Amino acid sequence: MVQFENEVAVVTGGGSGIGRATAEAFAREGARVVVSDVDVEGGEETVSRIEENGGVAIFVEADVTDEDAVAAMVETAVSEYGRLDFACNNAGIGGAQKPTADLSFDEWERTIDVNLHGVWRSMRYEIPAMLDGDGGVIVNMSSILGRVGFENASAYVTAKHGLLGLTKTAAIEYAQKGIRVNAVCPGFIDTPLLSEGGLDEPEARTGIESLHPMNRLGSVDEVASAVVWLCSDGASFTTGEALTVDGGYTSR
Ligand SMILES: NC(=O)c1ccc[n+]([C@@H]2O[C@H](COP(=O)([O-])OP(=O)(O)OC[C@H]3O[C@@H](n4cnc5c(N)ncnc54)[C@H](O)[C@@H]3O)[C@@H](O)[C@H]2O)c1
Repeated sequence: MVQFENEVAVVTGGGSGIGRATAEAFAREGARVVVSDVDVEGGEETVSRIEENGGVAIFVEADVTDEDAVAAMVETAVSEYGRLDFACNNAGIGGAQKPTADLSFDEWERTIDVNLHGVWRSMRYEIPAMLDGDGGVIVNMSSILGRVGFENASAYVTAKHGLLGLTKTAAIEYAQKGIRVNAVCPGFIDTPLLSEGGLDEPEARTGIESLHPMNRLGSVDEVASAVVWLCSDGASFTTGEALTVDGGYTSR
């Protein structure tokens, strides 16, 4: 028995890591999935994996810093599948790894543009599409770095904190209009993003693992299952929540 039969999900950054696992998880639950990414090869690979397992998905190339592309992504959900029920705004980058005062404005702005503005841009189109239908659920991919600081990552940390404010505010605004808006705050997850900061090197990886009381990284499926739960009827009274999935990192 699947829980999202006849429903439609959009996943940004669906061509890799957490986004791919989330797109596959939506499809396993019966949703038709719009997989969106700047990475065409990765996005198409996600669609192939879904189809090989009997699911339904389509790839849309979209850079979340490009408003027209984001509009087209949402339009594709409606034109291809007739509705939009779920959106996981997940596309993100690590950005430049430097102390705060060493960042150039361009480095700062790029990280904020993808990780924070990109989510707001996506919500601007997802919300009207959901209001036109039966409502829906939005899940924004924040981070434990939306809750605590982390050295050499001020733009990333700022964007991820900002996402929680955006999530809570939109949750209030649309609470009586059938749209729930939540966030997920993962700890460090084993994805290609870690290599951006050199955190995939063995010594760095061991150090990062030890910051989590479970003494390991999380898996993409452990995050995807949190997204699916937030979209499910079991979470029908949950909105404005930031669900931490971090092996205890922020409990220290
Ligand atoms: N990996 C972690 O430890 C971790 C922890 C907490 C939060 N997150 C967040 O989870 C999300 C997914 O990260 P991941 O670890 O799966 O990384 P990833 O690099 O595996 O996947 C990110 C995807 O986003 C896409 N992307 C990047 N810029 C884009 C843009 N401008 N427009 C559209 N797509 C774009 C990439 O092409 C890639 O497919 C990010 O928002 C990240 O900040 C990751």
